[in-house]
Amino acid sequence: MVANTLLAVQQQIERVPQLVSQNFKPVLYGGIIAFLFTSFLVTRLIQRKKPAPRRANSPDLEKPSSRKPTSKGPERTPGVWTPVDFKWPDPPPYPGWDVYKTDPLPYRPFKHGPYHITMGLRTMQWDDWIELDNHYLKFHADKKRRIEERGATHCRTAPEAMDGAIELLEELCDYLPQRYPTLYRKTPVGIDNIVTGECFNVTQRPLPEDPMQTCARLVQDDLAIMFEGSDGQYYLLAGAILLAGFWRLSDKFGMPLSEIHTSGDVPGFKTKLEKGMMNFFRRVQPNGPVLRNNYFLQVDDELAWSSSIGAEDGDHTQAVGWDTAEKNKAIEHHFFRSERQSLRRLPRSGGVVFTIRTYFEPVTAIAKEPGVPGRLASAVRSWGDDVSKYKGRERYQDVLLEYLDEQHRQQVERGVIGENYAEEDEGRKYPY
Ligand code: HEM
Repeated sequence: MVANTLLAVQQQIERVPQLVSQNFKPVLYGGIIAFLFTSFLVTRLIQRKKPAPRRANSPDLEKPSSRKPTSKGPERTPGVWTPVDFKWPDPPPYPGWDVYKTDPLPYRPFKHGPYHITMGLRTMQWDDWIELDNHYLKFHADKKRRIEERGATHCRTAPEAMDGAIELLEELCDYLPQRYPTLYRKTPVGIDNIVTGECFNVTQRPLPEDPMQTCARLVQDDLAIMFEGSDGQYYLLAGAILLAGFWRLSDKFGMPLSEIHTSGDVPGFKTKLEKGMMNFFRRVQPNGPVLRNNYFLQVDDELAWSSSIGAEDGDHTQAVGWDTAEKNKAIEHHFFRSERQSLRRLPRSGGVVFTIRTYFEPVTAIAKEPGVPGRLASAVRSWGDDVSKYKGRERYQDVLLEYLDEQHRQQVERGVIGENYAEEDEGRKYPY
């Protein structure tokens, strides 16, 4: 009897694992599924709570360490670029754009002092690559005339840069009709200009003109493409520089980036700019375009070439410079010149495209804008000796500053701006 009972107990004990596994299997599996589902939900919620990436507008791109690792790109052998399969998203049409009515954007990229030399790069939103406005037809006519008059000295492509220049042309044929559909129409062979009636076939070979000339006709910008040499330097091998005002493509063509700047005595280049620029060029990827703005003053009204600093077609062994400019001309002859520059890497050729869009207005016009005369006067006063020399301040400062101070005084008197405008203006978003 006892033996029977013990046997029965032993049999029950042996069945325990089987019973447990039969009864608990559904519970166990259900638990695992519930756990996984909850983990998934929690992860998604955490991800959704992360703030959306902000549009960077500060110049922190100058610090290589501040860039995301993804835009750094793989290590490369200098001078060797492997084409990448990269296409930018299609841009939407520029809202309400009209070739006769859309005013130029009012870039006023100066601050109340002190002035610091920096690269001043900020992220570019892809849609904004090329800016066109109601000055387009004037710029286009100036460029057309200058291509006829000067052709190859101002628009040129080195043989080894031809693929990059064609790639730039193709990129423009893709971008412009989408961004400015009332001006451009894409065609099976290229692009038509609806307003001027020009038709460009970019598939025919040989091309009817240097591709940089065709690019120049399509935009208001001057254009340059830099290519990396086996020494890691970036060389100017393709350009359409027609409205640059102060420099000539023929003086800089084929030069590496450093020499382009040192030959022009760009202030602070060696100490404050060169290293950051080299880093930037080496690392910039097709998905990492940037912008920068600058400004100058000139004492004539010539957009294409400021003849005050010397003749455009003069002796190229003689440097052009402010020394020849007439001193203290009347304020009506003072013009504000500001460039909006973009930089991006072309995915197929690896060339780095540099666009230079010039905005050009009389000082007397921009001085009507609230706060601008006071801010510009402060900025000009804050330039150090090297910047002042580079920008020719000595030739115009007396007339310019007297005028700006008076305009500022009147703006305060009329209550257009407050007495403490400089402090109130601190939060102004660069470059406006
Ligand atoms: C990261 C990119 C670059 C930076 C930070 C930069 C910076 C500068 C600065 C600070 C100046 C003085 C005028 C101003 O304030 O703009 C200057 C002048 C100039 N830059 Fe650049 N630059 C860059 C790229 C380029 C490229 C790609 C070219 C190629 C054509 C170029 C050509 C020139 C020329 C021709 C001048 C005028 C020099 C002269 O006065 O003779 N720059 N640059």
